[in-house]
Amino acid sequence: MFLEPARQIAGSLSFPGDKSISHRLVLISLLLEGSLELINPSDCLDVGTSLKLVEKLGIEVLCDKKVIRLQNRQQTAAGFSTPVELDCGNSGTTARLLAGILAGRPGSYLLTGDASLSRRPMLRVVEPLRQMGAEIESSDAGTLPVRISGRQTLTPTAFFNRHSSAQVKSALLFAGLQACGDTVIEEPFVSRDHTERLLKFLGADITQNGGKICLNGPFRLTGDYSFNIPGDVSSAAFFAVAAAIFPGSCIELKNLLLNPGRTGFFNVLKRMGTGVTFREQTEIQQEPAGTATIAGGALHGVEISPAEIPSLIDELPALAIAMAFADGPSQVTGAAELRRKETDRISSLISQLQKAGVKCQELPDGFYIAGGSRLPEAIEVDPADDHRLAMAFAILARRSEKGLFIKNPDCVKISFPDFFKYLQNCTNG
Ligand code: S3P
Repeated sequence: MFLEPARQIAGSLSFPGDKSISHRLVLISLLLEGSLELINPSDCLDVGTSLKLVEKLGIEVLCDKKVIRLQNRQQTAAGFSTPVELDCGNSGTTARLLAGILAGRPGSYLLTGDASLSRRPMLRVVEPLRQMGAEIESSDAGTLPVRISGRQTLTPTAFFNRHSSAQVKSALLFAGLQACGDTVIEEPFVSRDHTERLLKFLGADITQNGGKICLNGPFRLTGDYSFNIPGDVSSAAFFAVAAAIFPGSCIELKNLLLNPGRTGFFNVLKRMGTGVTFREQTEIQQEPAGTATIAGGALHGVEISPAEIPSLIDELPALAIAMAFADGPSQVTGAAELRRKETDRISSLISQLQKAGVKCQELPDGFYIAGGSRLPEAIEVDPADDHRLAMAFAILARRSEKGLFIKNPDCVKISFPDFFKYLQNCTNG
């Protein structure tokens, strides 16, 4: 795909519901005796994968344009005697969270994934689940496929979540709902807390104190609920950066998830000199939401510290584009986890930025970007089938001098199928 340069970014955008929250709601239907209505769910491929799998596991799924209804009619988990193959596609969130749910559900399950997901680490969730009494086999490399023989009862654990991974934490909390006693998780830096907020909303005995979370189990989730899901802040981040890199641009991002565990990139953009304001701030079922307005101006170089990383881990490719156009150097450290995403995001991001003309270099746990970039040639960049890299490169193309070609742009469907339509609609000139 060829993307032309632009002169300005403008518009008022609302986004499909947040992917992380949509995944959690879909998967939690397996543990809920009752029904869920999801208003404004994410329409992305990854959440589609979670939906397909819960349906395979017995949940009734009804999809209407912007509403999904999930009904769990099984009074107790039915279980399967022959192994059910559950193909998690490209979705790490599906694979990790599902492992925590299935560990306590009688039956035999085989989790698989595509080539990218089959390279990503599963041991970080398999090992603590084994500590809880789960019967799980994985390959020697600690990757998918993973075989789970679900147990009726699990034992609670105390676990140090050293990668500050919200996926690992969520898997253990889902397992903890099925264990008798206190499941305690501590993490060095606080990761996104959607699972904690959701379980609290559903009545579970869960407390959160800084980086320490305690859940008292077992707890049966029951009832009928309707959830209104705020717009995906990680999808919106690309448009925030698009406005930030064009002085004089202004964009409004409406009905957006504003959970502080996800909005670290707004703080970084502010430090770089971008105008960021919030209004209509409210709370929807325990999740902060509102409207953000982004006004582009002169950008300064910035440092991102390890403590901030979990609150902006998925936004680093987008922020790298802002850094490329800052008037000074920028540096990111403490982000080694980026190498464990859909691709090695440090290596793929930096190699393609260099190819496009940006002066930058890899660090073992992050990257350095010199700033003041000029992109004089319409070359091709390869996002390595990684949706967030493809969207970052599309924003980069808008600030290039002659445009850029993007290889396999279709991968944006993993998190944001309408990304290119949105980009077209807010590009002027
Ligand atoms: C996610 C957590 C993060 C994030 C991923 C989604 C989630 O991963 O990068 O895109 O929904 O819990 P980790 O838990 O591996 O940090």
